[in-house]
Amino acid sequence: MTTATPYGTLPPASPVAARKPVSLPRLAEMRERGEKITMLTAYDATFAVVADAAGVECILVGDSLGMVCQGLPSTVGVTLETMCYHTESVARGIRRVQGTCWIIGDLPFGSYQESREQALRSATALMQAGAHMVKLEGGGWTTETVRFLVERGIPVCAHLGLTPQTVHALGGYRVQGRGEESARALERDALALQDAGASMLVLEMVPAALSAQLTEKLPRCHTIGIGAGKDTAGQVLVMHDMLGINLGKNPKFVRNFMQGQGSVLDAMRAYVSAVKDGSFPDNSLHAW
Ligand code: KIV
Repeated sequence: MTTATPYGTLPPASPVAARKPVSLPRLAEMRERGEKITMLTAYDATFAVVADAAGVECILVGDSLGMVCQGLPSTVGVTLETMCYHTESVARGIRRVQGTCWIIGDLPFGSYQESREQALRSATALMQAGAHMVKLEGGGWTTETVRFLVERGIPVCAHLGLTPQTVHALGGYRVQGRGEESARALERDALALQDAGASMLVLEMVPAALSAQLTEKLPRCHTIGIGAGKDTAGQVLVMHDMLGINLGKNPKFVRNFMQGQGSVLDAMRAYVSAVKDGSFPDNSLHAW
């Protein structure tokens, strides 16, 4: 019998029946059989455990926590120390219930740009905090950093399209990869990142047709879309947005999965099932 404790009760074990731990080979098998990969952000033990229980395969401890948890205006001010703290909280919760999800820790702005060695030190800190994989933003120069980390045994998720850490350079939160030249540059970066060993690639605010083409061309690097249409290998949303914990205007690619549901667990289950059955995202509503 589970004894209730104050301040949030975690179950003794994950209620996801007999799910094998999510791993890179398992994600590749899912891709092979055409099963969509689900990812949500989470920043603390309780929400991470609920997402795991809902059947979400990947939890991203995203630097979006700067906005949703810390009240910052962008992700630029998030530090490595903060990322390690939240990654540890998520990993501890998942360990405590013997959860099975794959945990991705976001390398924050300034923690990998200086050199490959700096990136290795920062990635090591996130892995020691409990991440299974690290994520970094950008193409071009990041390719050699990705190769350096992957060669040293650190799985890497890349991130192209709208890269929030460079929002000031991009001139705002706008769709990327529009127009022939910009689309070709994005494709070049994506192919180079796959070649460097990135096994996942977040595509954020990229036209649906382009991300569908990229997904075809990246068999070894699973594309995870956010505002990138339905034809990616998987989908990710920021948890607060998909639960409607937001008094502002949500971006067009978000659906509030709390609507019609009685609990966060059910809302996350609805997200998992909508991604798996292809009903979310809907290209006519959530994409460009
Ligand atoms: O930090 C984050 O949550 C992210 C997602 C928006 C993909 O990078």
